[in-house]
Amino acid sequence: MSEQKIRIAILGATGAVGTELISLLEERNFPVASLKLLASPRSAGQKIPFRGASLIVEAVEENSFRDIDLVLASAGGSTSKKWATAIVKAGAVMIDNSSAFRMDLSVPLVVPEINPEAITQHQGIIANPNCTTILMGIAVYPLHQIQPVERIIVATYQSASGAGARAMEEVKVQSRAILEGKEPQAEILPYPLAFNLFPHNSPLNDRGYCQEEMKMVNETRKIFSAPRIRISATCVRVPVLRAHSETINLEFNAPFDLEKAQNILSTAPGVRLVEDWQRNYFPMPIEASGQDDVLVGRIRQDISHPNCLELWLSGDQIRKGAALNAIQIAELLVEKKCLKPQKIAVSV
Ligand code: A2P
Repeated sequence: MSEQKIRIAILGATGAVGTELISLLEERNFPVASLKLLASPRSAGQKIPFRGASLIVEAVEENSFRDIDLVLASAGGSTSKKWATAIVKAGAVMIDNSSAFRMDLSVPLVVPEINPEAITQHQGIIANPNCTTILMGIAVYPLHQIQPVERIIVATYQSASGAGARAMEEVKVQSRAILEGKEPQAEILPYPLAFNLFPHNSPLNDRGYCQEEMKMVNETRKIFSAPRIRISATCVRVPVLRAHSETINLEFNAPFDLEKAQNILSTAPGVRLVEDWQRNYFPMPIEASGQDDVLVGRIRQDISHPNCLELWLSGDQIRKGAALNAIQIAELLVEKKCLKPQKIAVSV
């Protein structure tokens, strides 16, 4: 990595992803010149440790981005939209974890293991994809490169962390309530998640697909540069704290050799193959939690179709699904010396 040191602001520093961003900057020895922690006025004054210092959280305001090179934003779509212009005008680059700009044609949507070259096209904003999309892409792209995938059928088993730190806390409180024989209360999520599961609660379209499912369709097409790939997703929230799992059926235009697929995935970047067929041991969210790699296993020939493979994965939603992917983008920006935007974004 170059000697360049970066002045960073984290927008949403007190959230589940924000907290992970802070630890990753420290853990990966990112060249930080200064770190500003921003959140809502609720958190102003809160102290957060970083590299031996105690940083004070500030409420975000118009001048927050002055003298900042890079903003890592994870405070929801409306907050990203509200501050994007101020960030870009201040000359900083925004890596945005929300869905606000992901499908904007002028905004690169990047998974460094898949389309790192896209970062050079940025105009001040780079979008971090949806967590389920990142995890699926990490497992599917290495096979897609060898033999194009024509159709993906995916079902997700999504942890509470996807709905933020308060949803994670809610599941713990609900679990305690149920074990004590009390009625669980739901405030952040629409229904009790402890000892339960339900289809993803994002808004439904007129075809019956929710927003989360359509993110998997549209974002995967954009990241893979494969606008015609057919994808159908069913997203489900499960009472797991921080790692998502997915079952994925891939259809190719001809049979894909099973052993070849296993070999490819055993060395694919960002993937750890976890398969012990004797012990019936495969990826589990409890083991994926806190890990950088997406755990992939149970790669099988689909018995119902000669051109299809089945696979299963678990990946840390907060890390590779969000914060780690954003930090990897930041590392690429430093490495490729892309931190100064080429021109002011036109789309904000
Ligand atoms: P705060 O803790 O002050 O509410 P999560 O996704 O885990 O729920 O985290 C969301 C993050 O976004 C938190 O840091 C939260 O700060 C921050 N946030 C939410 N709304 C705003 C806002 N309007 N302005 C700035 N930060 C916000």
